[in-house]
Amino acid sequence: MKSISRRKFLGSAALGAVGSIGGGGLLTSCTPKESKGYTPLQSEIPVYIPVTGDKANDGKEVRVGIIGCGSRGSGATDNLLTAADKVKIVAMADIFPDRLEGLRKFIGDKWKQTVPDEKIFYGFEAYKQLCALPEVDMVLIATPSIFHAVHVMEAVENGKHAFCEKAAGIDPTSCRLFFSAIKQAQAKGLCIQTGAQRHHHRAYVESYRRVREGMIGNITSGVVKWNQGAMNYRKRRPEWTDMEYMLRDFFSWNWLCGDHVIDQLVHNLDVFTWFSHLKPISVVGMGSQLQRRTGDIFDNFGLDIVYPGGVRVNAQARQIEGCANDISETITGTRGIWTSTDMSIRDFEGKLIWQYDYEAEKAQYQQNNPYVLEHMDLINHIRSGEPYTWEAEILVTSSLTGAMGRESAYTGAEVKWDEYLVSNQSLMPEKLHLGNIENFEKIYVAPKMGKLAPDMR
Ligand SMILES: NC(=O)c1ccc[n+]([C@@H]2O[C@H](COP(=O)([O-])OP(=O)(O)OC[C@H]3O[C@@H](n4cnc5c(N)ncnc54)[C@H](O)[C@@H]3O)[C@@H](O)[C@H]2O)c1
Repeated sequence: MKSISRRKFLGSAALGAVGSIGGGGLLTSCTPKESKGYTPLQSEIPVYIPVTGDKANDGKEVRVGIIGCGSRGSGATDNLLTAADKVKIVAMADIFPDRLEGLRKFIGDKWKQTVPDEKIFYGFEAYKQLCALPEVDMVLIATPSIFHAVHVMEAVENGKHAFCEKAAGIDPTSCRLFFSAIKQAQAKGLCIQTGAQRHHHRAYVESYRRVREGMIGNITSGVVKWNQGAMNYRKRRPEWTDMEYMLRDFFSWNWLCGDHVIDQLVHNLDVFTWFSHLKPISVVGMGSQLQRRTGDIFDNFGLDIVYPGGVRVNAQARQIEGCANDISETITGTRGIWTSTDMSIRDFEGKLIWQYDYEAEKAQYQQNNPYVLEHMDLINHIRSGEPYTWEAEILVTSSLTGAMGRESAYTGAEVKWDEYLVSNQSLMPEKLHLGNIENFEKIYVAPKMGKLAPDMR
């Protein structure tokens, strides 16, 4: 495992020409026009409103290989097969046979599709074998987040479209790699879709449309939260090595998931990145590990994120029992406030200006599940031959924002976007193997800042 100085990353500079992350290049489908007395928000980034329906457009068969066959890999496969006809699962890869065989059986039982033995791959290199298959058109990636960028890049280098779960990356190295994969995909006319499903949740999409149309005025601040009870975890079994234990309990380990300030909060940070078209300047964060039973990550974070123009976001992430839970985003502008809590816009007197109509949605559409709709949009783009990466680009910014928050909370330092973006911090181990790890118990502990406070008496 690479030893990472908690303070060193700020000084290092590995790569320069990636400053445009979060700064533009998204696809467009419409730019808001002046209407109803609102002035559209100015931005170099065009507004993209996905077209949604009940089923993907008919077209050529799309042959899919799955990398990472656990819970979300299974859920996403089901969502994909629900979203579109003529989608065939042709290959599967995972580290562990029990995970893969569970999904293989599900695909057979529910979807009557058989994946042959010769298209089943195991181990850390399995993704390469799967991506090299000529019959694979698209790769569905649902591995722990540290692997996402590597797996997406392999897919794109082999000319495949990709659906990849969030996060895009959990450190500057993986975020930059993901961004490079996006640029390569754009050059090759490929699609990369990411599992930030709020982008296909119709209430969010309609909210985004109105915020960009100017209904809340210029954005001044936001509050985003993923505060929940204790996170589930896997108890270690005696037969598991250190690495197998971490992989099977990966939401508890920083190098695999990037801490929950990315793993979960990235969804909420991503709503702010998406709606505001902004990338942060700096983050000061704090947090600690109070009650967690496994792993080396924190269980609470509070971040103060500074954006251009004095815009500030208060971001909170907590996984502790018995506290005030809330998973939401609220964005304040010069004219009013949008909140995902009831998908509404109100003025400063509390008067309702706009609210999403779920009943109208139900009357118009049969398919309302954003996890399905995101695959529908992806398949439509693949079938129309139109490259599609806009959501992935936004997610890179949001992922790096979460990583800045984690590093600030771990170190106590203010973390600046321009410095962190080019740092060579990488949480990926130098060698991946399924064995035990020397000094495992000493290496994998949650960071603590200093010792007891000085005695002031
Ligand atoms: N969009 C969402 O709302 C959402 C919800 C849950 C999870 N996720 C994301 O989905 C991803 C997977 O989460 P999960 O809940 O399915 O976890 P999981 O542990 O159930 O599944 C992960 C799978 O990946 C396999 N794996 C691990 N390392 C691998 C490697 N190097 N190569 C191939 N396979 C590997 C594991 O064996 C396991 O089968 C995570 O990135 C998570 O953040 C997204």
